[in-house]
Amino acid sequence: MEPYRHPDLDPSSGEEAFEFSLRPQRLGEYIGQEKVKARLDIALKAALKRGEVLDHVLLFGPPGLGKTTLAHVLANEMGAPCKVIQAPALEKKGDLAAILTNLEEGEVLFLDEIHRLPAPIEELLYTAMEDRKLDILIGQGPSAQTLKVDLRPFTLVGATTRAGLLSKPLHDRFGMVHRLDYYTRAELEVIAHRSARVLNIPIEDEGAVAIARRSRGTPRIANRLLRRCRDYAEVKGQGVIDAANAEACLALHEVDELGLDGLDRAYLEALCDKFRGGPVGIRTLAAALGEVEGESLEDLVEPYLMQIGFLDRTLQGRKATERAYAYLGLKPSAGPLFG
Ligand SMILES: Nc1ncnc2c1ncn2[C@@H]1O[C@H](COP(=O)(O)OP(=O)(O)O)[C@@H](O)[C@H]1O
Ligand SMILES: [Mg+2]
Repeated sequence: MEPYRHPDLDPSSGEEAFEFSLRPQRLGEYIGQEKVKARLDIALKAALKRGEVLDHVLLFGPPGLGKTTLAHVLANEMGAPCKVIQAPALEKKGDLAAILTNLEEGEVLFLDEIHRLPAPIEELLYTAMEDRKLDILIGQGPSAQTLKVDLRPFTLVGATTRAGLLSKPLHDRFGMVHRLDYYTRAELEVIAHRSARVLNIPIEDEGAVAIARRSRGTPRIANRLLRRCRDYAEVKGQGVIDAANAEACLALHEVDELGLDGLDRAYLEALCDKFRGGPVGIRTLAAALGEVEGESLEDLVEPYLMQIGFLDRTLQGRKATERAYAYLGLKPSAGPLFG
């Protein structure tokens, strides 16, 4: 059986159409990430002024923080088309070669999940990114020849959940590397209001506050909760999302005060109770949670638990903090399970 892969790690999990309509198109509409925006704004203006393409950009950060959105924004700002490719979908060198040679001048190539690019295909990118050249091997054996193909100027935007997953040669070929951070509550309130406006959902300030507070710093979650709250307000209320019906809706969906959901709680309970607070390895934890993919935990669950001070990642493994015990209403246990 395939281990359970969280839908948020799969970019084609059916929410695209909805997410697409909510995506800010220009840098000015993109909420938060002020430092990243300031740096990109300069780079964009400089490139436009010189009539050049934008340098290759690597975006990294947990799922749902706006990497795909930002890639499209960059293309829009450059007035260029954007070609979106899921890196794991590339199987042969020829797949990438065909994409690269077909890029229009100035086009943005967005390679999502770039850390999952197979190694031989990745190597093709090195000369493509550096010299805008492609080495293509033609024929086999002693008569084989390499053909050098010139590529039109393009910008590669790579997205990954963790920059550390990228090989050094690939990492080093990006002119800019930007980390997206969790959003503040104030920013998430603005996002909730903006999305409500786009989707024509009536919402009161307190309703947006309730949603923002439980979105665990993530716009994708804010937008999802907004939809659930709309359903609830339409069925149980007068159609306007307010504090009371938003709270009731989120309680119904078992999203708690901190925005933690069932998987987060199961993780914490396993760590604190079963493994007595750790240290415990990620694989062991994943197995204890019933075939959840380690990557789902590492990308979706752990970063936020660390952000709120519930989890430490040490060389020995994962460790729960006292705060995590307090949250679960448990007492830290006396000592390690084994030892
Ligand atoms: N800075 C932002 N401002 C407004 N909405 C955002 C922002 N970042 C992300 N979103 C919303 O969150 C959703 C998920 O963003 P996405 O770019 O798909 O995240 P990622 O690619 O990092 O997983 C999008 O539908 C978009 O509407
Ligand atoms: Mg994405």
